Order: sequence, then C-alpha cells, then structure tokens
Amino acid sequence: MAALVFDRAGDFAAARLSEPLSTCPDCGGTGLVRTTTKQNNRTYEVVTPCPRALLQRRASLFNDVHLPAVHAQASFDSYKPSNAEQAKALETAKAFAINFQNTSRGYVLSGPVGTGKTHLLCATLKHLTVERGVKSAYVEISLLYSQIRRGFQDGKSGGEIIGPLSQVDVLAIDELGKGRGSQFELETLDELIARRYNAGKITLFATNYSLKAPEDSKVRGYLGTEGILEASKDSKLLCDRVGDRIYSRLCEMCEFVEFPMNTADMRRSGPQLVAKKKKPA
Ligand SMILES: Nc1ncnc2c1ncn2[C@@H]1O[C@H](COP(=O)(O)OP(=O)(O)OP(=O)(O)O)[C@@H](O)[C@H]1O
Ligand SMILES: [Mg+2]
Repeated sequence: MAALVFDRAGDFAAARLSEPLSTCPDCGGTGLVRTTTKQNNRTYEVVTPCPRALLQRRASLFNDVHLPAVHAQASFDSYKPSNAEQAKALETAKAFAINFQNTSRGYVLSGPVGTGKTHLLCATLKHLTVERGVKSAYVEISLLYSQIRRGFQDGKSGGEIIGPLSQVDVLAIDELGKGRGSQFELETLDELIARRYNAGKITLFATNYSLKAPEDSKVRGYLGTEGILEASKDSKLLCDRVGDRIYSRLCEMCEFVEFPMNTADMRRSGPQLVAKKKKPA
C-alpha cells in the first residue's frame, strides 16, 4: 500500500508517494478505479477516484505550503513537552488541526529560541494538508519582507505577493515581530493581517516576543507608526513590536500560549538529554 514519504528538497520540506502512481495496480496511473456492480440483473460500471491519486494530491498540497526543509519530519507525536505551557501548546495545535473548520480560532505561540514553536506550526500544517486537504501556506516574516523588496526591483507590487497569502485557508506566520521594524515592514504586516482578519481567515503565529499587554496600554492610547517604531526599539513585547492595531486583531483571531523564559532550547540539549536531566538520580 502506497504511503507518503517526507523528505527535504532544497530549502523546503517535500512529500512524495512511496510507490509512483503510474505503478498503481488499481488505476494503472489514471487516478480512476473502475469496478462493476450488478443491480436488477444489469451490470453497471462504477468509476471512483483512486486512493493513491488522492494521496498524491495531498502531497502536492503539502509541497505548496513551503515548510522549511529542516522540519520535514515534524509531527505532533515527535513533540515532547517539558513544561505545562508546552503541553498546552501541543494540545492547542493538535486540537486545532483535528477539529479544523473555517470558523476555528487560530493560535499564537510565544517563547524563547529552540522551544518547538516552528515544529508545532509545521506539524499543524502537515496534518491540515495531508489528513484534511486544507489549502495552507507558511511564511517566515522577514523572508517575506525580503521577497517583497526583491519583487519591487522586478516591477512587482507588494500586493501581488501578499494577495495569495491573504486568501489561503490557513496561513502560518513565523518569527512575528522580527525584522528591522521599518515603516515598510509595519505597513506590509498590517496589510496582510488586516486582509486576513477582514476576510475571517485563520492565521497561526509564532514569535520570540512576549504576548503580555503593556502595563500602560490603557493610558498610552494609539501610538501611530512613529510611536510604534519608537516603542519597538528595545521592547520584548510583541505588542510594541507590531503595534496596537495588529495586536488587537491577534487577541480576537487567536488563542495565546506563552512558554516560560527558562524553557529548554532543544537545539542545544535535544529532547533525549532534557528527559535524562529530569530523571531523579
Ligand atoms: N518539545 C520538543 N520536542 C521535540 N523536539 C523539539 C521540541 N522543541 C523543539 N524541538 C526540536 O528542536 C529544534 C528547534 O525547534 P524549533 O525550530 O521548532 O524552535 P523554535 O521555537 O521555532 O525556535 P526559534 O525561536 O529559534 O525559531 C527542532 O529540531 C525541533 O524539532
Ligand atoms: Mg522558529
């Protein structure tokens, strides 16, 4: 029985069939299975879609997401929480993927480096595309800014690149708050999130910045672009990095999960080492 195999292909994760469609004994590569059925002494031919062809379509859907190659094997099963917040993140991401509907609420994962935020985004989009057939996309925000800047040189407008990302059913925006914090970046992010918010589209986020609201949020009022650029300089708060307009929309669009600052960096320690350290001597 053919299955999907996940691998790296250049910069991106890629899925392919373990056995090609052309060798399928059921459809012979046509994608359609023909069977006969008898009713009232008459024989009818029944044509149904071949499961292997369906699997291939799911592989294409996965490949269109453009997940980072390093996360080709990311799954919910391979994520091992080391504290209550990571357990909540896993539960939130898994429940989102399994129960996904167009009215679902997204999520934002916040935490220090190497704590599995991108891993969970990738596991979610893998489940959505492969198991559910949901059209999804992934962007790392600073790479998107560079892509748009490069597009300007080729005469493309920012809208041409943002357009498809505004419409996809589920979009994961990674590294939210990262970047130079320029006016161009703020406006690009504002346009992308406002378009998705207005269209009622579901968006997932990961960030290294804290999700806490600033203590003086009630008195400082709307900051405006200049104010955001000033507030974001040394701030560790996402709200300061992206501004009140975007932060306000995130509060409505998403559930927030924040890992504590002492959550282990798995790139340094690895899941096995962390598990060993935790065992009593
Ligand atoms: N809880 C975990 N269980 C299993 N593997 C994990 C866990 N957390 C992280 N990893 C692994 O550690 C590596 C780094 O994870 P990932 O890239 O998702 O971190 P991140 O939180 O997105 O970091 P950054 O903030 O630097 O982007 C990956 O190989 C990932 O699979
Ligand atoms: Mg990451």
